[in-house]
Amino acid sequence: MSRCLCCVFLLLVPFAVCLNQEGRYLQRVKLGFDDPDGFFSDWDVAANNDSPCQWTGVTCSESGNGFVIAVDLSNANVAGPFPSVLCRLTGLKFISLYNNSINGTLSGDISACRSLAHLNLAQNLLTGTIPHSLSELPELKFLDLTGNNFSGNIPASFGLFPKLEELSLVDNLIDGKIPAELGNISTLKQLNLSYNPFSPGQIPPEIGNLTNLEVLWLTGCNLIGPIPDSLGRLSKLVDLDLAINQLTGRVPSSLTGLSNVVQIELYNNSLTGELPAVGWSKMTSLRLLDISMNLFTGSVPDELCSLQLESLHLYENEFGGKFPEIISNSSNLNDLKLFGNRFSGSLPKDLGKNSPLTWVDVSNNLFSGEIPATLCENGVLEELLMIHNSFSGEIPASFGKCRSLKRVRLGFNKISGDVPAGFWALPEVSLLELAENSFTGVIGKTIAGAGNLSTLNIANNKFSGELPDEIGFLDNLIEFSGSNNRFSGSLPATIVNLEQLTKLDLHNNGFSGGLPAGIDSLKKLNELNLATNQFSGDIPDKIGQLSVLNYLDLSGNRFSGKIPVGLQNLRLNQLNLSSNSLSGDIPPVYAKKIYINSFLGNPGLCGDIEGLCDGKNVTRNMGYIWLLRSIFVLAGVVFIFGVGWFYFRYKNFENSKQTIDKSKWTLMSFHKLSFSEYEILGALDEDNVIGSGSSGKVYKVVLSNGDAVAVKKLWGGSKKGEDGDLENGSVSVSVRDNGFEAEVETLGKIRHKNIVRLWCCCSTKICKLLVYEYMPNGSLGDLLHSSKSGLLDWPTRYKITVDAAEGLAYLHHDCVPAIVHRDVKSNNILLDGDFGARVADFGLAKVVDGNDKGGKSMSVIAGSCGYIAPEYAYTLRVNEKSDIYSFGVVILELVTGKLPVDPEFGEKDLVKWVCTTLDQKGLDVVLDPKLDSCFKEEICKVLNVGLLCTSPLPINRPSMRRVVKMLQEIGSVNPMKFGSKDGKLTPYYYDDASDHGSVA
Ligand SMILES: *[C@@H]1O[C@H](CO)[C@@H](O)[C@H](O)[C@H]1NC(C)=O
Repeated sequence: MSRCLCCVFLLLVPFAVCLNQEGRYLQRVKLGFDDPDGFFSDWDVAANNDSPCQWTGVTCSESGNGFVIAVDLSNANVAGPFPSVLCRLTGLKFISLYNNSINGTLSGDISACRSLAHLNLAQNLLTGTIPHSLSELPELKFLDLTGNNFSGNIPASFGLFPKLEELSLVDNLIDGKIPAELGNISTLKQLNLSYNPFSPGQIPPEIGNLTNLEVLWLTGCNLIGPIPDSLGRLSKLVDLDLAINQLTGRVPSSLTGLSNVVQIELYNNSLTGELPAVGWSKMTSLRLLDISMNLFTGSVPDELCSLQLESLHLYENEFGGKFPEIISNSSNLNDLKLFGNRFSGSLPKDLGKNSPLTWVDVSNNLFSGEIPATLCENGVLEELLMIHNSFSGEIPASFGKCRSLKRVRLGFNKISGDVPAGFWALPEVSLLELAENSFTGVIGKTIAGAGNLSTLNIANNKFSGELPDEIGFLDNLIEFSGSNNRFSGSLPATIVNLEQLTKLDLHNNGFSGGLPAGIDSLKKLNELNLATNQFSGDIPDKIGQLSVLNYLDLSGNRFSGKIPVGLQNLRLNQLNLSSNSLSGDIPPVYAKKIYINSFLGNPGLCGDIEGLCDGKNVTRNMGYIWLLRSIFVLAGVVFIFGVGWFYFRYKNFENSKQTIDKSKWTLMSFHKLSFSEYEILGALDEDNVIGSGSSGKVYKVVLSNGDAVAVKKLWGGSKKGEDGDLENGSVSVSVRDNGFEAEVETLGKIRHKNIVRLWCCCSTKICKLLVYEYMPNGSLGDLLHSSKSGLLDWPTRYKITVDAAEGLAYLHHDCVPAIVHRDVKSNNILLDGDFGARVADFGLAKVVDGNDKGGKSMSVIAGSCGYIAPEYAYTLRVNEKSDIYSFGVVILELVTGKLPVDPEFGEKDLVKWVCTTLDQKGLDVVLDPKLDSCFKEEICKVLNVGLLCTSPLPINRPSMRRVVKMLQEIGSVNPMKFGSKDGKLTPYYYDDASDHGSVA
């Protein structure tokens, strides 16, 4: 029987012995895989050895027969379908293919692996449904399918597993409901179903029958309804995670029956009512409790706080009353987050005395009284966040020795007195915020010791005296806000050493003297606000060399002399030189009516602005006007030429279509396909066109199996030589073959519920086709700006906003390297049958790699009119921040129902229109009248997020991850409820001033 096969090997390896049968099966496994790293290199017959037992990843039984019992191919970087032939190895107990690129579906044949006890296929690319026959494996104890693309239901047959102890299906695309039958797997110790798009359903009470359960993860499973009482029966449970769902009702008092539980995560649900007052003392093992972002009320039970907790997160609920003193007794407590509640009274006075407190955030409460002096008693406190309370008294002297501190925010309280000298000098502190208190005294010279300080915000206090020279020693200082104090004297000359400084805001103090020489060395300065002081002397011409200066306010001082012509070099969003003693001419660029407010109140100033100084003529500006005109004419010529070329290329393509030789097409697919490229090619009729964008035409193709796909035909990509000299031309996207494949491949691998899936890509030299999933409700832009916009009520719009934000956040934060979309707009947000939104069209996206030299040939336009971030005008670079700006515009569109550019706004775009209209006419004029006013509060909050995203300064725009978080928070305090079901985000620390200012 085995003779034939042996011959084959004998031919290849003339003097080798024959492999045994199991070895030959394993060689078939090897042949079935792509193995770029050579994992299988030693899977070969070796001299004097007919068994595979020495091969990498193979283990044989020790006892006589030497059968293969384990095959471990984890992290081998191999690709290909699941090797069913493994099941021929009759003694095989263990298979791990963890973290490879196993693709295709998992066939029901796997039930032939009769001895299998451990099957780990986590972190692969498997698709299709989970075979129900898995439960026929009589010995299976461990099944891990985490991180694949499995869809469909969890088979009800899973209830029949005779020995299963661990079931992990985390992070797949499983829908349907969680089957109650799972409650029959009485052997189960771990049940991990987190992060799947289940349809809304309750936690089956039968789960409470799994009395051997130690770990239960149902995070992000779209759960609704109450936490069943029965869960309290899980007395062996160690880890319970029900976070990020839409659970309602109270915490059942039976839950305190979890006598072995160490960790409970219930954050981000809609749980209500008071916590059970008693029973907690039974949970002696509880160390980590996170019930943040719910709607809990009442006070926090003493009994809970008398446990030996390590981490207690109660933030963003409606808890009130005094916080239990007894928590000070916990010798484990290191993480206490209470922010965003209504706690009042003083903090426990011994807090920190017995505990290794490391992170404390009690911001946004009604706490009062003194700050406990013991907070840093154990010397490990790193974050102390107490903003927006009514704390009073002084900063305890003991804090001056708290050298572990990294982030300190005491802003918006009633704290007074001098700051302890040592407190200025904390070596690890990067953020020190004391704003909006009643601090007095000077900034200590000791501040020289704060070598890590990057943000110093002491605005709105009663600090006085001169700034110490030592300020200039803070090499890492990025922001210094000291406005609205009583500082005096001149700025220390050392201040020009602050090479990292981006913001210097000292407005409204009593500073005098001139601006320091060498101010041009503040190369990163973005914002300079010295308004309302008594500065005098000339404005140095070198200010024009601060190339990234964006905001300049020197108003209300005694500056004299001429306005430096160098200011013309800057791209200023804000320029205010009013109320000084400046004289002479206004630099021509600024001699325009729109800048008039920048120069008012300078009696000696003459320029060509009507109303500022009459009687001057404009001849001096003729040169500029001529120059501008030439530029416009030139631009026009380029444009016309470009359009002509474009037309020509397009025609060419259309003509060549008839002669497409199908055999020349190459197909690259990223998912299991149920169609062929020929089926698609055959269906590209002009009748099927559903859209046409800058990068190509889009067709709807209904396949023979009834499914629809969207096919995008990209323009361009003609052969070099013909009109190759116009390659990288100025019009729209030119499909660069170079890297195109690699780029598309990256995009094909992206899988996220809020990103339109790219099924495959077919290409010839002449054109490229991208085949996407079809989205029946078309684009958000089309729908929102059509007569059908009434379909989009506020809850739908809100959901679309969150969905799209999650999609973008995924591109920015979860893809390595990060992906910048480059053309975020409402027309690139597509809607599925339920108005779920997905981000589409990476036609312009480009993988941003770390070593991007910044300016590479950007032959593509970055973005669409009305969505382009202002900094693009001068940096010609796009990054995540420009996507965030564009996304902000989409938010404004959703809130106002208006187009991003509209003749109605005059010269303004939507962003400017919203800002000015809000100021002048109020909110009601801005909001889309089609929206139900009962949602006004939420709409307004979402609008604020939109405004943050469209901040003129990129640095002020929140990251997409923060945007998602802010949006979710808005949803979590209102009844419409569309929670996120995505990846577990790092807990959100609500401690950033911009959040408080604009969203809270
Ligand atoms: C699976 O991956 C292999 C190797 O990369 C590839 O050749 C094959 O086409 C893929 N199969 C599917 C169904 O995507």
